[in-house]
Amino acid sequence: MTDFQNSYGRLARFYRTLAMSLALISSGMALAAAAGETVPDKNGKLANKVALITGAGSGMGREIALLFAKEGAAVVVADIDGISAGKTAETIRNARGQALAVTADVAREQDVSRMVDTTVSTYGRLDILVNNAGIFDMLVPAGEVIDELWDRVIATNLTGPMRVIRKTLPVFEKQNGGVIVNTASIAGYTGARGGGAAYIASKHGVIGLTKNVAFNYKDKNIRCNAVAPGRVETGIRANSEKLAGAQTLHDATVSRWKDIENAVTAGYVTNRRKASPDEIAKAVLFLASDDASFVNGSILTVDGAWTAY
Ligand SMILES: NC(=O)c1ccc[n+]([C@@H]2O[C@H](COP(=O)([O-])OP(=O)(O)OC[C@H]3O[C@@H](n4cnc5c(N)ncnc54)[C@H](O)[C@@H]3O)[C@@H](O)[C@H]2O)c1
Repeated sequence: MTDFQNSYGRLARFYRTLAMSLALISSGMALAAAAGETVPDKNGKLANKVALITGAGSGMGREIALLFAKEGAAVVVADIDGISAGKTAETIRNARGQALAVTADVAREQDVSRMVDTTVSTYGRLDILVNNAGIFDMLVPAGEVIDELWDRVIATNLTGPMRVIRKTLPVFEKQNGGVIVNTASIAGYTGARGGGAAYIASKHGVIGLTKNVAFNYKDKNIRCNAVAPGRVETGIRANSEKLAGAQTLHDATVSRWKDIENAVTAGYVTNRRKASPDEIAKAVLFLASDDASFVNGSILTVDGAWTAY
C-alpha cells in the first residue's frame, strides 16, 4: 500500500468518526428537544451561577428549577418529597444541565443546614436562593384553626425561609454578594382571598421578612425580593393535604368552611384564568438575574391584575 493510500485511509476514517460524533450529538439534542427540554445556554442569564430552590419537586419550584438550568445555572433541587425532587433533577440532567436533588424539610433546622452545606460542598458556592416551598391551609378561619395546622403552615412558609436565609447569608457575605427570591403570594397583602388565617399570616410575614433582609444587607451586595402570585395551576391543595394532615378542605368540623369558600371564590369572577407555573418562573428569573440589579426589597405581583381590581 502506498503512502498516499495510507493517508487517504486515515483521512476517510477521521471524517467517518467526525460525522458519527456529530450525528450522535444532534440526535441527543433532538431527544432532549422531543422531551420538551432545552439544553442549557452557556451564555444564559444565570451562566456559572449556583441556585438552591426549595419545593422544587412540584409546581412553581419545578418550573423555576428547569428555567434556571436552561439559563445556565447549576441547580440544587430541594424538596421534602425526595422522589419528586429526584425527578426534577433527572429531567435537568437528561437535558445536559447540572442538578442535584436534596431531600429536605425546610421546617427542620438540621435539614436546612445540611441542604445549604451540601450545595456549597457540591458546587463550591451558592449565588441564588429561592425560598419557594410552601403549603396551603385550606382557608380555615382563625376561630377554628387547630394548633397543628397553624404550626405546620408557619413553620413551612415563614420560619423555614428565615432559617434558610440565616444559614445562607454568611455564604453570600463570604462571596461578596448573592440573591434571594421568596415566593410570597397576594395572600401576603390581602385579607382572605388567598388563604385562611395561618396562610395569610405566613405570607404577610414573608413579605416583611423580604423587606427587612433587603434593607439590612443591601450594602453587602445582597438583594432580597419576593414574587407574589395570584392563582396558579399547581397541585398545592392535594400536596398540602398530604403534608399538613388535619383540617383538610372538606373537613366537616370547620363549620363555616362552605361560607368562606363561597365568599372567597366569588372573587374569582374578577380573575378567571390561573397562571401556569412557568409564567411565575419567568418573573422569578427576572428577580434572580442581573436584569434586576437595582431591584431590592420589592414584591413583584404576578396575578393577571386580580388585585388591581
Ligand atoms: N398555587 C398557587 O395558587 C399559589 C399562589 C401564590 C403562592 N403560592 C406559593 O407558591 C409556592 C409553591 O407552591 P405551588 O403552588 O407550586 O405548590 P406545590 O405543592 O406544587 O409545590 C410545593 C412544593 O413544596 C414542597 N414542600 C412542602 N412543604 C415542604 C417542606 N416543609 N420542606 C420542603 N419542601 C416542602 C412540596 O412537596 C411541593 O413539592 C408556595 O410557597 C405557595 O404558598 C402558590
